Amino acid sequence: MKRITGAQYNTEETLREKNNRRLAYRAAVEGIVLLENNGVLPLKKGDIALYGAGARHTVKGGTGSGEVNERYSATIYDGLKEKGFSILTDNCLRRYDMKLEEARKAYEKDVRENHTIIDVWGLVFTMPVADEVQEEDLADCDTAIYVVARQAGEGRDRRLEAGFNLAKEETESIKLLRKHYRKVILVINSGSSVNISDVDDYRPDAVIFFCQEGLEGGRALAALLTGEENFSGKLSDTWVYRYEDIPFGNEFSYMNGNLAREYYKEGIYVGYRYYDSFNVPVRYHFGYGLSYTDFEISAEAVTLQGKNVLVDVRVRNTGKVTGKEVVQVYVSAPAGKLDKEYQRLVAFGKTGNLKPGETETLRLCFDMEYCASYDRQENCFILEKGNYIVRTGSSSAGTAVAAVIRNEETIVVSRHGDLLKCEETFEELHSPQRKQEIPEGVKILKLDGSCFETKVYEYPGMKAADDDRVKEIIGKLTTEEKIKLVMGESRDDRGLSTRYIYTPGTVARTTEDLLDKGVINTNLADGPAGLRLLKESALDKNGEVKYLKGNFPVAAMELFLEASPLEETDTVYYQYPTAWPAATALAQSFNTDLIEEIGRITSREMVEFNVTFWLAPGMNIHKNPLCGRNFEYYSEDPVLSGKIASALLKGVRSVEGNYITIKHFACNNAEDNRSFTDSAVKQRALREIYLRGFEIAVKEGKATGLMTSYNKINGIYAPDNYDLAVRILRNEWGFDGVVMTDWTSTLEGQGSNVKAVKAGHIIMPGGSYYRDEIRKGLKEGSLSEEELDMTISYLLKAILHSNVASRYKAEDLI
Ligand code: BGC
Repeated sequence: MKRITGAQYNTEETLREKNNRRLAYRAAVEGIVLLENNGVLPLKKGDIALYGAGARHTVKGGTGSGEVNERYSATIYDGLKEKGFSILTDNCLRRYDMKLEEARKAYEKDVRENHTIIDVWGLVFTMPVADEVQEEDLADCDTAIYVVARQAGEGRDRRLEAGFNLAKEETESIKLLRKHYRKVILVINSGSSVNISDVDDYRPDAVIFFCQEGLEGGRALAALLTGEENFSGKLSDTWVYRYEDIPFGNEFSYMNGNLAREYYKEGIYVGYRYYDSFNVPVRYHFGYGLSYTDFEISAEAVTLQGKNVLVDVRVRNTGKVTGKEVVQVYVSAPAGKLDKEYQRLVAFGKTGNLKPGETETLRLCFDMEYCASYDRQENCFILEKGNYIVRTGSSSAGTAVAAVIRNEETIVVSRHGDLLKCEETFEELHSPQRKQEIPEGVKILKLDGSCFETKVYEYPGMKAADDDRVKEIIGKLTTEEKIKLVMGESRDDRGLSTRYIYTPGTVARTTEDLLDKGVINTNLADGPAGLRLLKESALDKNGEVKYLKGNFPVAAMELFLEASPLEETDTVYYQYPTAWPAATALAQSFNTDLIEEIGRITSREMVEFNVTFWLAPGMNIHKNPLCGRNFEYYSEDPVLSGKIASALLKGVRSVEGNYITIKHFACNNAEDNRSFTDSAVKQRALREIYLRGFEIAVKEGKATGLMTSYNKINGIYAPDNYDLAVRILRNEWGFDGVVMTDWTSTLEGQGSNVKAVKAGHIIMPGGSYYRDEIRKGLKEGSLSEEELDMTISYLLKAILHSNVASRYKAEDLI
């Protein structure tokens, strides 16, 4: 028996790590958004007063499966120090260090006394807010920086108090700083928006949405503050003035006490689609972000080529420093049978670094099908007749009309089955249509309806992957072997040790019992902010895995299980993957080239560590800022989500046989009670908002894997949902990769294992309960062997063509 690992045997920082840090730094620079600046920034190096929980404990990402165990990440304190600032508030910061330590001890005590290991995922330590800054903490300098920090993660939504809203301690501190310092800078270190209205009366001179920026965030911020780098990030969500401004915000998740069902009453009016259509003033618009320079944006030409629209936008740096600008293209569709949102994003692009006076023309393209709306009475996407106003701008606010595309006949783009029906009767929001103003002299282009051929979908259901070797191997497998393959390698059989291809810290693996059939085992690692692996682990001389102190797959596990002491005969493994900025921050870069590069580099890390499936990217829509996992997802907008994901996927695909797993399909937009809640969503909102990003990632990004969600969608658990996982995903979108369940989503009382397999799922993480259910299904006839074969055929195909299989042959491992 051989054990193959990509881990290293010493703690030395590798060249790969050093290089990847540079990319992580670039990503952080482009992901941070400057929200306000009355001229105080950039700062001159010198004395500075630094406050707040995130100063020395900068949150680099969220908790739970989205957490990446990096070697080391630079805090804001580190970044400023390295840049040459003298920080005069160490005493105050030290008090927070102690508070944090005490809070951690209290948490550990509580967990040990009041919980069991079963709850481990939900037992996330959240950092306390910093105490109020006192008079004696004020320093003798000009400038104060206050860092508000928020951490969230799976299994729990954020609370309003000291979560979405500022805590009293924070508001009072900022009030005091405002009185004392000439310049006050507020930095928000949170994966999702924070309501800063409480400090409106003590207005900070600059506000920065730092977000959560991975390994190099602290350094990136310091370079931005000094003007060594320029801001170019733009918000991927709207920031409201008050929580009450969010449509049906008071019904979201736990807010109305009903965790059983979530009614998607806002329909398609999610994020800016709502605020723009209903004229609700917002604090910061979707797509907004400042720079140290100014740009002039002008649409030079809009041309129609069949159903494709090409928009040439000239960007000129009219300011005094070098910078990058993001150009966004929106379309306002005509109301008709269906009401329409005021505008929707259809394309975007980012310039390179433009020196003062320099120009660049970006060509931004979109397919008119991006402008279609879903008619749920007829089950079709239509482009209604009327004017489609093409707008360009540097944010969603104040977009300028670039052209009008006139459609003289309603076009049926595609006809669908009556899928994912919502039986619940609730009123959806409909917008009072805003009048379409078309400025004089705007170019009008006529859409030629004959360029469209209505797609009429048929639903043949599941079929097997088309691959001769797969067929041959399946023909040789016993039923029991097939059952092994249709789920993760069960830890209850074999404990923690993977015998063959071994990547400590991966969340699942495929079976290692089929080596004699030519099928190797593969490993699945979480994301999306990088590969979630164990930094340090050991194997004893019998090949058993040991968890070492501070290095458990889930931090809270250590409170129940003893860390193993190291013996001389143990082999210690070290793995240091790159922690990229959180997904929201990546989307805020609006830079698809950068994201593709991150995908490419992560794919190389997958090769290094022998990871075959990366459980990323997260693609759920930011329906509400309280969702605990928003940091793992990109945006409130499906096109931005889909395009950013597609860029990442393209990068990962640069290494053949490395797979990603877009997740969580679909409507996992709240975390409280995520395993049982029912998302009641009407088909139009599903098609236009909640499925759209995934659709783009499948069709344009050529996604190779997908994970369904825990929740029900219109009464049916996601893994049981044939409409979703087969009819829409495979039959309509042409997906032919691996579909898997989210972890334990088919445990008793949740999704059905039989239905999940029928709908093409590999069951994760696997184990005796799941296996017995499949056996029972086969015996009783609710699952046929042919259905089982079809499902495993996709996994088998993926394994046989995996990168890891191209490097290690099954027969050599035995
Ligand atoms: C999460 C998934 C994750 C899986 C494996 C689940 O709790 O929802 O996103 O990939 O665990 O860690």
